[in-house]
Amino acid sequence: MSSNVRPETMQRITTKALADAFIAEQVAQIRAQVGDKKVLLALSGGVDSSVVAALLIKAIGKQLVCVHVNHGLMRKGESEQVIEVFGKELDANLIYVDATDRFLDLLAGVADPEAKRKIIGAEFIKVFDEESAKLDGISFLAQGTIYPDILESIKAAESGKPVKSHHNVGGLPEDMAMELVEPVKLLFKDEVRVVGEALGLPHAMVYRQPFPGPGLGVRCLGAITRDRLAALREADAILREEFDNCGLAEKVWQYFIAIPDVKSVGVRNEMRYEGWPAIIRAVNTTDAMSATIEEIPYAVLHKITNRITAEVEGINRVLYDLTPKPIGTIEWE
Ligand code: XMP
Repeated sequence: MSSNVRPETMQRITTKALADAFIAEQVAQIRAQVGDKKVLLALSGGVDSSVVAALLIKAIGKQLVCVHVNHGLMRKGESEQVIEVFGKELDANLIYVDATDRFLDLLAGVADPEAKRKIIGAEFIKVFDEESAKLDGISFLAQGTIYPDILESIKAAESGKPVKSHHNVGGLPEDMAMELVEPVKLLFKDEVRVVGEALGLPHAMVYRQPFPGPGLGVRCLGAITRDRLAALREADAILREEFDNCGLAEKVWQYFIAIPDVKSVGVRNEMRYEGWPAIIRAVNTTDAMSATIEEIPYAVLHKITNRITAEVEGINRVLYDLTPKPIGTIEWE
């Protein structure tokens, strides 16, 4: 297995030419490691797993089997983009599993954030295991581990105080029969993005803002219901569209909508209209440990408010969360 230490002499990948050289080197290494065997990859659609998928497709084509599990908590259009880019454009060997009902049925009535996270995490592994058990002759497991994951895990092991336990570093079963393929494990995030663009992945996929594993599940606050989740997905898509339109998408580190399990009274067409509030969160940070609030121009806030209340059934107010971290965490749950 190759080293987990980035050599001091390794040049930072900042240009297309450097990315092309890295890609050529990795393609050769992957072919040498894998031979004619098969590789399995959980493809979430996030930056890291997408870049690993594109690299492996370039190296070994259909010997890579990608499994995309839609847990029903993805943002609008995300699973569709995975199918479009990998299934169609790159002609990948892609298994798409729509497990929405499984996840939402298990989550029904569960209001505690940590209980929700545990259910989502455990079910995800279960679905992925079930799918991989159906496949024959898989010898390798590919992962989108990047260098900060390795550094954080080393730091946590040394201090005995895990900051965050990265499931893809050291958390795998010891008796796992599959060998790991981790082609971007010595790269930092900005380098992974340069490689992704050099591989021809869409800009929106490569520059996707961070999105938590439990997805919209921790933004549909309290016990998730299908109607409130649907409203959240639509409102979040409007926020993203308007941030794209006014250039804030390039400037703000993470922005999204959260919807609490609360209704207030409103009026629509001269009738009483009870609805949920959509809460806008837009933060800047370097390490997610602390965060400041983006100053969104009032005109943009008005436009977002008008669109969400007009276009999304069930939402009758829009609020802007001005709380920095600390004291508020970035996510509401
Ligand atoms: P907080 O809310 O702790 O978030 O200030 C810091 C960053 O971590 C993300 N986050 C998560 N990511 N699983 C993830 O993969 C989670 O359960 C989770 N909770 C928070 C959050 O989106 C932010 O970028």
